[in-house]
Amino acid sequence: MSARPEGMAARKITAQTLLDAKRRRQPFAAVTAYDYPTARLADEAGIELILVGDSLGMVVLGLESTLPVTIDEMLHHARAVRRGVQSSFLVVDMPYGSYHTGADDAVRNALRLMKEGGAAAVKLEGGAERAALVERLTREEIPVVGHIGLTPQAVHRMGGYRVQGKSAAAIDGLMADAAALEGAGAVALVIEGVPREVAARLTAAAGIPTIGIGAGPECDGQILVLHDMFQLGFRTPAKFVRTFGDAGTLLRQGFAEYRAEVAARTFPKEDESYHLSPEVRAELEAEPAGRTK
Ligand code: KIV
Repeated sequence: MSARPEGMAARKITAQTLLDAKRRRQPFAAVTAYDYPTARLADEAGIELILVGDSLGMVVLGLESTLPVTIDEMLHHARAVRRGVQSSFLVVDMPYGSYHTGADDAVRNALRLMKEGGAAAVKLEGGAERAALVERLTREEIPVVGHIGLTPQAVHRMGGYRVQGKSAAAIDGLMADAAALEGAGAVALVIEGVPREVAARLTAAAGIPTIGIGAGPECDGQILVLHDMFQLGFRTPAKFVRTFGDAGTLLRQGFAEYRAEVAARTFPKEDESYHLSPEVRAELEAEPAGRTK
């Protein structure tokens, strides 16, 4: 799976494509996107999975956590991302509160993400306690990606964004969560913030692809938050984040340069301005100054 040569028709990546990759032991890449240009760039680079994550709240909307993000906000961004995606498997997060008030509400909200947002699958957080819901959504033809380990929507229960699965009991719990979600029909599993050894066990035991974030290299796929990858965040990045480009510095320098050029009247230049035809200019110059009509 590589970047698409220009002009070549996009091959649609599906849940089956990701499963085949797992079986071939071919790792795949996933990234978050929240708008058209970044979704299009990621898609054209051959990124296999694009997630409209509810991390949207923190990295785009400037919120302190993902908890206030609404289904309408997710839809707004999902629609933009959908327009940029031709090939990647598009997953959209179910935000906090959109699947907590009963299965019918969850189905209704998930269907909106599919029909209005163009999602190929929805993602929701939680373990065995979500199995019945995953089964119901799957029965309604809504593919579901699970999310276990460090689940940001449970920040208050976890007492912060902490690495999970550090004791034998916690590891057993995660193994049971993964098995329950897979048994309920989940098509893939995000594993966030767990020790490498734990993610490796989860991946070996799972019949569906695992997608790691802060979970070591043995997962079937890796996912990163776009703003972390390109230094567009304003917090100290977590240990597992690697920078793949410094867009933050580029933008800072660009803004400072632009402001200085405007202040010095060196922007815009002559060839960056529109001009009247010589005839109209001559007519204008022949008129008394200040006349407007
Ligand atoms: O919302 C998000 O960006 C996510 C990723 C961290 C997997 O859920």
